[in-house]
Amino acid sequence: MNDRTTPTPTPDTDAAAPAPAAPASAAPAVAPGGRFALGPREVARVGYGAMQLGGLPGRPPVSDADATAVLRRAVELGVDHIDTAQFYGDGVANQRIQAALGDTADVAIVSKVGAVHVADAEMPLAVAQKPAELRAQIEQNLRTLGRERLDLVNLRRVDAGIGIRATGDQLVPLDDQLAELIALRDAGTIGAIGLSNVDAAQLTQALPAGIAQVQNAYSLVARGDEDLLALTVQHGIAWVPFFPLGSAFPGAPKVAEQPAVQRVAAAIDATPAQVGLAWLLAHAPNVLLIPGTVGVDHLEQNVAAGAVALTTEQLAELDGVAEGIPA
Ligand SMILES: NC(=O)c1ccc[n+]([C@@H]2O[C@H](COP(=O)([O-])OP(=O)(O)OC[C@H]3O[C@@H](n4cnc5c(N)ncnc54)[C@H](OP(=O)(O)O)[C@@H]3O)[C@@H](O)[C@H]2O)c1
Repeated sequence: MNDRTTPTPTPDTDAAAPAPAAPASAAPAVAPGGRFALGPREVARVGYGAMQLGGLPGRPPVSDADATAVLRRAVELGVDHIDTAQFYGDGVANQRIQAALGDTADVAIVSKVGAVHVADAEMPLAVAQKPAELRAQIEQNLRTLGRERLDLVNLRRVDAGIGIRATGDQLVPLDDQLAELIALRDAGTIGAIGLSNVDAAQLTQALPAGIAQVQNAYSLVARGDEDLLALTVQHGIAWVPFFPLGSAFPGAPKVAEQPAVQRVAAAIDATPAQVGLAWLLAHAPNVLLIPGTVGVDHLEQNVAAGAVALTTEQLAELDGVAEGIPA
């Protein structure tokens, strides 16, 4: 799953042609990292993950001003894909996106359903997988985002992997959930359907529904899903890894702390985080990035990672990083 070359970013305009003078508010001519399909539209391959904007247990609070600054700077730099969820701070991340960008910004908003926020818990999430619950979560997302339509909704399954688990009547057949999402897509409430935290059998089962994105934990320090990634490449489905830098949560292995990542970064005068993101972009053509940050400096570095080129030798060295890390 690595063709050993860094793909040339696909500009959305002809780079050889003289660029027309753009008003200060217009989007940049070149999309960070090039573009790839996300359901019925294309987006820049470097996007933004909004989880931290809802606040995280044990992390310093994020101010409204900082949230607005990072979201507006992202759009200024050509980011047009934001990943969010109603359960990020019980609507707080969504409300901040709405407050910063309004409903007019030409940005694909992707949310996820399958869980709801619960207050005063160490992990403030409860499983909510039933079809009617999925529909209610989508309606709540629309309210807090101030939008009439979500560009894509990921069904976040909870059978295995990271986080909460379904039990009892929350063990809902995938086909029943997809039927509800298809009805919402047919009604125009959502633009496309994605899956999160799934395996190859679940993706294969869901393919007839038309799956536009798969979002699993994946990075230089979490390579357990290579086969699933290969399946998404085969079907032209966007692969949108969560935790692309190893996550905002303390304790998990971090991409930027790996010695090989730091060696390559020093050699090319990039930051280790940029190397981790550039490796992801080079690893497969359908990768779309949603790194999370609450800092404009880190955001600018993450967007600039879309132009970081890695040699065949550097990619090979980075491929070895996961060997010492349990899948
Ligand atoms: N589908 C799911 O189940 C699921 C689960 C979790 C998350 N997600 C999505 O995935 C997105 C990404 O996950 P994540 O935010 O936890 O993890 P991440 O993107 O792997 O890492 C975020 C962490 O890296 C730091 N960081 C970001 N850019 C950096 C840079 N240039 N240099 C150094 N450090 C940098 C951030 O700190 P600073 O804030 O200080 O920059 C933060 O601590 C989330 O925002 C969310 O949208 C989905």
